[in-house]
Amino acid sequence: MKGIVYDGKTTSLVDGLTLREPGPREVIVQIAAAGLCHSDISYMNGLYPVPSPGVCGHEAAGVVAQVGNAVTHVQPGDHVIVATLAACGFCEFCMDGRPTLCRSTLANWSQPFTLDGAPIYNFAATSAFAERTVVRDVQCVKIPKDVPLTSAALVGCGVVTGMGAVFNRANVKRGQSALVFGVGGVGLNVIQALKVQGATTIIAVDTVLEKESLAKQFGATHFLDGRREDLVTAVGEIMPYKDDMPRGPFNAGGVNWAFDCVAHPAVTYNALECLDWGGTVVVIGVAGQTAEFKGLYGRLTQVDRGIIGCRYGSISPQRDIPYIIDLYRRGDVLLDELVSATFPVGNWEDAVHGLESGTVARAVITF
Ligand SMILES: NC(=O)c1ccc[n+]([C@@H]2O[C@H](COP(=O)([O-])OP(=O)(O)OC[C@H]3O[C@@H](n4cnc5c(N)ncnc54)[C@H](O)[C@@H]3O)[C@@H](O)[C@H]2O)c1
Ligand SMILES: [Zn+2]
Ligand SMILES: [Zn+2]
Repeated sequence: MKGIVYDGKTTSLVDGLTLREPGPREVIVQIAAAGLCHSDISYMNGLYPVPSPGVCGHEAAGVVAQVGNAVTHVQPGDHVIVATLAACGFCEFCMDGRPTLCRSTLANWSQPFTLDGAPIYNFAATSAFAERTVVRDVQCVKIPKDVPLTSAALVGCGVVTGMGAVFNRANVKRGQSALVFGVGGVGLNVIQALKVQGATTIIAVDTVLEKESLAKQFGATHFLDGRREDLVTAVGEIMPYKDDMPRGPFNAGGVNWAFDCVAHPAVTYNALECLDWGGTVVVIGVAGQTAEFKGLYGRLTQVDRGIIGCRYGSISPQRDIPYIIDLYRRGDVLLDELVSATFPVGNWEDAVHGLESGTVARAVITF
């Protein structure tokens, strides 16, 4: 079968992959569509400390092809979104609804594929850029068959990462204000979750100006050019301390929340500078393992500001994915509009160019 393999240096489409049989609690999913997330590009660029050669991709939806003999919640023919969390289901974090903290969900590499007899790793416990993949049963979330699989695929990472950061990690309250750096597949979902939560000021920031209309379509109330040197001042003018005073004592004024979907030191610094008293920066973007950021201690202590990270929207897939699909079916969140373009797997490099140009919401690869 076909799949996109990163060999530690280059990435290419191969034919001739084989996949092992499922274990008792595993499922083989026939991938229908897979979104290209920025984390896939980071993997292909060698930024992640994970082994290769591996089959790329981790944001997918498809049809259950085969189940292990202990799988009960899905059966062949079911449509599923594949979550990347291969959680154990038994530890204190799984029991507490925090499977993103389950120790089995990181560094749990295996080699379920072979190519010309050589073993090939999976990526993010998913490997969605292949015609079929094998995942744990807990990773499959059944969805109604009327949800287009090209839209559903994006829920597997970008959607849950952005929306979950707002719902779970931050728990934004109605009437609050927020700043969102990076209007990509993740940032757009931060924006639409903020709207669902009733945030009243949602300021989107991107260096690509074409993103303004997308940001506003998803719920942003303002858009700022991320290249502006006076960005912090501009945010103060939108959310001033007082009508005639953009910032007050100890940098009062600004926003309650800043979501950093970029992870660049200048962005994280600005995010902290834009917070009102009591505000929090939520870092979602993934930087290189040794990349550092800086900020003023005084901002944290004075007054009660913070910086937190968020992995995969801190979600519990079987709880949060059906909720998001429900919001979509009620018309409260947009999924179809996230699909800027679809590419048959043979044209996967066009999807990469689309993402790197910064102009697409999501490019989706189909099988
Ligand atoms: N924490 C997690 O679990 C998790 C999950 C998925 C993705 N990610 C990470 O989130 C980040 C975003 O992913 P994505 O798929 O949305 O990427 P994307 O490429 O779709 O979007 C990134 C956006 O950021 C913009 N941008 C770049 N530099 C900027 C700057 N200095 N200021 C403002 N905007 C800027 C780009 O123009 C683009 O619109 C990536 O780092 C990705 O690896 C993290
Ligand atoms: Zn666990
Ligand atoms: Zn991702």
